[in-house]
Amino acid sequence: KTNFVIAIDGFSSCGKSTVAKALAKELNFVFIDSGAMYRAVTLYFLRKNIDFSNLKEVDSALSKIQIDFVPNGSNTEIHLNGTDVSAEIRQMYVSEQVSEVAAIKAVRVAMVAQQQLLGARRNIVMDGRDIGTTVFPDADLKLFMTADPEIRAQRRFIELQAKGEHTTMEEVRANLSHRDLIDSTREESPLRQADDALVIDNSNLSQEEQLNLVIAKYQAIK
Ligand code: C5P
Repeated sequence: KTNFVIAIDGFSSCGKSTVAKALAKELNFVFIDSGAMYRAVTLYFLRKNIDFSNLKEVDSALSKIQIDFVPNGSNTEIHLNGTDVSAEIRQMYVSEQVSEVAAIKAVRVAMVAQQQLLGARRNIVMDGRDIGTTVFPDADLKLFMTADPEIRAQRRFIELQAKGEHTTMEEVRANLSHRDLIDSTREESPLRQADDALVIDNSNLSQEEQLNLVIAKYQAIK
């Protein structure tokens, strides 16, 4: 193995992707947002009215889904069957169903295989829920991020408001605790802290402090 894999897991809205993006930029690694893939699958299922409990329907839908990460300037778009869905997958109606979809075994099997391919032979930073435990159990550096639930809800609320999404703190709070509960109690690769992960509680850390901490760790082990 010649590539370097950084796995970042943790609860919803802990700033995983913010750290992952900054880290990838700093180290010149490829950033992969695995949650965006589960969101794109969910969007497809909702558009096609797929019955999540019908495994045949789920399998057949999965075979019709193509997900691509497409660089555009300093950003990366996520494409579902050739169309940019980056904005749509962040909407609340997708967030409200994504954990149910991500708990389906066939969905996880398909996504994990694709994530492993994306991370083969490249230096990557991938964030998600099961990256250090299931997707890349041999990752070179594993981080587990956490933060006070109220601080997380506030951050997410501000983010959604900035995007013009009509929502309330109540709704955001409920969505985060709902997803955390399903994500950590599902049967198939639940959200777990890997034994060898560096735990970062960023409730009171700035983005710069978090980045410095991770870079220091990277320098020490690379
Ligand atoms: O990271 P993000 O919050 O966008 O992920 C959305 C949802 O996708 C999570 O709440 C979880 O249900 C699912 N997910 C997952 N495994 C991953 C990444 C995300 O189950 N590796």
